[in-house]
Amino acid sequence: MKIFILVCITFICGFFVNVSNSNPLPYESIFNFGDSISDTGNAMKSFPPMPSNSPYGSTYFKHPAGRLSNGRLIIDFIAEAYGLPFLPALKNLTKDQDITKGVNFAFAGSTALESEFFKRHGVDPPGTNNSLSVQLGWFKDLKPSICKSKEECDGYFKNSLFLVGEIGGNDILSHLTHKTVTEIREIVPLMVEAIANATSILIEEGAIELAIPGNFPIGCNAAFLSTVDSKKKEDYDEFGCLIPYNTLVEYFNEQLKNAIEILRQKNPQAKIIYFDYYNDAKRLYQTPQQYGFTSDKNEILKACCASNGPYNVNPKTPCGVLGTTVCSDPSKQINWDGAHLTEAAYKMIAKGLVEGPFATPSLKTSLFKIV
Ligand SMILES: *[C@@H]1O[C@H](CO)[C@@H](O)[C@H](O)[C@H]1NC(C)=O
Ligand SMILES: *[C@@H]1O[C@H](CO)[C@@H](O)[C@H](O)[C@H]1NC(C)=O
Ligand SMILES: *[C@@H]1O[C@H](CO)[C@@H](O)[C@H](O)[C@H]1NC(C)=O
Repeated sequence: MKIFILVCITFICGFFVNVSNSNPLPYESIFNFGDSISDTGNAMKSFPPMPSNSPYGSTYFKHPAGRLSNGRLIIDFIAEAYGLPFLPALKNLTKDQDITKGVNFAFAGSTALESEFFKRHGVDPPGTNNSLSVQLGWFKDLKPSICKSKEECDGYFKNSLFLVGEIGGNDILSHLTHKTVTEIREIVPLMVEAIANATSILIEEGAIELAIPGNFPIGCNAAFLSTVDSKKKEDYDEFGCLIPYNTLVEYFNEQLKNAIEILRQKNPQAKIIYFDYYNDAKRLYQTPQQYGFTSDKNEILKACCASNGPYNVNPKTPCGVLGTTVCSDPSKQINWDGAHLTEAAYKMIAKGLVEGPFATPSLKTSLFKIV
């Protein structure tokens, strides 16, 4: 009897010692807002399932997994690096699913600006009405099932990371065939304001650490390159990227950084990180072989999941439909399907954020390296 109690006590003590000794995770949870760059299943849930042999997801998940890439996205690599599970998509939550480690509100096709804006502006309506502010509404609706009182929420969000974007790429895309770069420039301050507004609201809701990504070098993106298809040689830089569109994004990112600075001053208790997606991704196009991609200058800008068109992009036959092909080694390509990048590219970009130097200030030290 004595031995039994002793064993029990040792066991229970051991258990408690273990629990109290185990270090808390750097981030207990991640909440993400954005578009297809970080959507892990919200938009896909609203469509009929992709055929199981679709090339989407094929490299990592071996089946379509709600993501518009051949494998993991930047957000997946971040979650892994911090010892967290892949973020469940809000629209694909199962009953009783654990949401305490975070939820993903990003929706493919979504815009920073409200969908009514596009109609008023006489440009293509966005692919979805689930703009950033709509996603924020979803967060507010879900919040009571995450935490109850202000005190409980503050305690919980203290260790959460909130990602606001990337968003804005689709706002620009909607304007592409109707407006000049100079005209698109005029909507940049509004886009930035929408992102800053969302960030302010999250801080009011209790967010303490937030990361706001800028936009990608869209001038190097196969979807933009093929849609713009400029015949003017002077529009392209030495890497084959469209100068006017990269300059537009540089302007957007400068405005965004200014807005972040204002948010920091207004909210000294919050840590607001800028994710430099632009330079993180641009280096991949500039010295691709250094990051394991093909050194073939003709190939590097092309989509891997290809159809017949400039840069392997043809909007009439998108990746996955009959007649499209997948390149022999997706890990050698940056671009997956025109608009989206490959898992290999997202991995490099995530590494640049988590391990530096493309997050300012830095994220907390990760538990694992991204390899
Ligand atoms: C929804 O979640 C299930 C797992 O719970 C997963 O197998 C499926 O691929 C997800 N669907 C989408 C569209 O993300
Ligand atoms: C967006 O909302 C408008 C007005 O409610 C609707 O007509 C349109 O079909 C919606 N678009 C999408 C893509 O759901
Ligand atoms: C940002 O918030 C302010 C204050 O609520 C509002 O007046 C403005 O229209 C919002 N801007 C955008 C682009 O949503």
